[in-house]
Amino acid sequence: MQVGSPSHALIPPVTSLSLCPMSATMLHASLSSLHCSSASPSPSPPRLSSPSLYPSSPSSARPTCLRSRHVLSFSVPAKTHLRAKSKSMGLKVNCSAGEPLKVMISGAPASGKGTQCELIVKKFGLVHISTGDLLRAEVSAGTEIGNKAKEFMNAGKLVPDEIVTAMVTARLSLPDAQEKGWLLDGYPRSYAQAQSLEERKIRPDIYIVLEVPDEILIDRCVGRRLDPLTGKIYHIKNFPPETEEIKARLVTRPDDTEEKVKSRLEIYKQNAQAILSTYLSVMNKIDGNRPKDVVFGEVDSLLSRVQKDKAKTTKLGNPVSGISLPSNQATKKEGKWRGIPTRLNNIPHSREIRTYFYDDVLQATQRAIYDGKTRLKVEINIPELNPEMDVYRIGTLTELVRVIALSFADDGKRVKVCVQGSMGEGALAGMPLQLAGTRKILEFMDWGDDGALGTFIQIGSIGAKEVDEQDDIFILVAPQNAVGNCIIDDLRGMTESAGMRPVILINPRLKDLPGSSGIMQTMGRDKRLEYAASFENCYFFRLLYYAGTQYPIMGALRMSYPYPYQLYKRVDQPSRKEEYILLATFDGRPSIDEVNDAFLGKPRNQVKSTSGIWGFLSSILQ
Ligand code: AP5
Repeated sequence: MQVGSPSHALIPPVTSLSLCPMSATMLHASLSSLHCSSASPSPSPPRLSSPSLYPSSPSSARPTCLRSRHVLSFSVPAKTHLRAKSKSMGLKVNCSAGEPLKVMISGAPASGKGTQCELIVKKFGLVHISTGDLLRAEVSAGTEIGNKAKEFMNAGKLVPDEIVTAMVTARLSLPDAQEKGWLLDGYPRSYAQAQSLEERKIRPDIYIVLEVPDEILIDRCVGRRLDPLTGKIYHIKNFPPETEEIKARLVTRPDDTEEKVKSRLEIYKQNAQAILSTYLSVMNKIDGNRPKDVVFGEVDSLLSRVQKDKAKTTKLGNPVSGISLPSNQATKKEGKWRGIPTRLNNIPHSREIRTYFYDDVLQATQRAIYDGKTRLKVEINIPELNPEMDVYRIGTLTELVRVIALSFADDGKRVKVCVQGSMGEGALAGMPLQLAGTRKILEFMDWGDDGALGTFIQIGSIGAKEVDEQDDIFILVAPQNAVGNCIIDDLRGMTESAGMRPVILINPRLKDLPGSSGIMQTMGRDKRLEYAASFENCYFFRLLYYAGTQYPIMGALRMSYPYPYQLYKRVDQPSRKEEYILLATFDGRPSIDEVNDAFLGKPRNQVKSTSGIWGFLSSILQ
């Protein structure tokens, strides 16, 4: 069967960080070549030569920090798979209790980051890196960096990115942070800072955000007092000093006035959302407006869970997931990709075409997991996988799932393939039509002669109780919201139980749908949408058609992690051949207007509707 008119078809178709000379040298080297950020208000920023970032004599004027945490640190066919099960089991799984934790803690000024960091360091022994502390130490030491930073800090503004980033990356690279793990406090504080870490592949296992109402924050800042001797954080009402002697020596931070706190808070809010997008998949929000021990109880259980998950990982491969790239993948360059296959409007697709896409999806997924991504989604809608088309085939979907599952099982991982079960009550009981019977199909499929099904691969449903201790990876087959039945609560329960283990959604449909029949969803709409958005595309492929039609194919949009989105135009060649020509690439998923612009080859008007030839795509691409 051919989709498309003949004329188009194939037409052609710190614990306290001690100041060590090495770190000082490193920082000096990395900072001495810096210029002030262009974001700096200074009209002609002076070059930061920083000849003496630290006092030359270690004992002389070493920066005295205001908190103990401030004691500065410078100081395909089934049978081809599961070929070497026993080998994988024996050699690749290697529990590593020593894999250190990497934690970021964020929150508005005075949300309690420093207070929680003291407790975290005490229990987990991580190297605490607080940019506020590093900077205050520079200020107290009167270094050039400190003098430069002082004006920004005292005004309640952010210090230029370059200064802070150089300090943080130098500190993170020191052996103690590598060995003990790190706790990054107050960094990144802007989108640019987050991107600097991403570029260096420095990623946290968990990103904690402390949430506290504004009015409480102001009271906490204004009442904060610091002991310059011990570095301990007090509060005149909440945590008064233990003795009169301590009380007498307490100091107030110069940026802790109500006016400056408001400015800091405003800057925090302006940046928070942009940073969140980078860490959504590992983000955990915690209510910080509770007694500090209660807050720590929650932080502690989160970190303990992450630590436990990490202990399950292998030494080979990714430190979080334990996934190692097959050797052919480790070196494989996207440049070797053969381009988009043609004859995609020939239905059913040939085995070559299906295999081609399975392989493309698999490589992207492996790369993403290898890079430590844990909340992933694959969106692919070649005609056989596009439920909007009557040529949709559940067999193609399950075959894709089998290829991915068997590949990870080959690698010694225990994979759980999950299909949404019946949801709702009474007349609403049932499951999305598209998934009816899928579980049975999966159970009857050929999973190879090696007995993968039941050992390395289990079939399950979606929900927290489906997560077993021995599971390494979860593949969720087309989880969908249906009116009255929101899958998000179950999905969230599942990902929370899965912790740092990868969860891959294949062709999810999680758009928010209105509830019906009084069925309550425990999460609010915003939270549901935010949660759905926390899954990152590791693979995206969509054919493009004229608005309102499903033929001829006009082009394709493809993204294979970690490469950019690529927009292709399908061009008919003489002699009944077709070709896909690259029109443009995009760092993020392009909007409908950007697709239009690229196809039309000219900038469009600012005011435009999405009802142009690609209007059909607007709900898909935005
Ligand atoms: P920084 O020192 O990081 O300041 P901040 O982010 O504003 O955070 P704070 O240190 O004020 O508060 P906190 O959350 O640690 O709260 P704490 O535990 O002390 O940065 C200072 C400046 O440096 C910035 O303004 C900027 O200029 C610069 N800077 C830093 N990083 C930068 C970056 N990446 N880029 C650019 N510039 C950067 O608690 C506060 C008070 O509340 C205390 O009194 C405490 O006792 C009390 N408290 C804590 N927990 C509780 C609780 N649960 N209940 C009641 N009271 C509590």
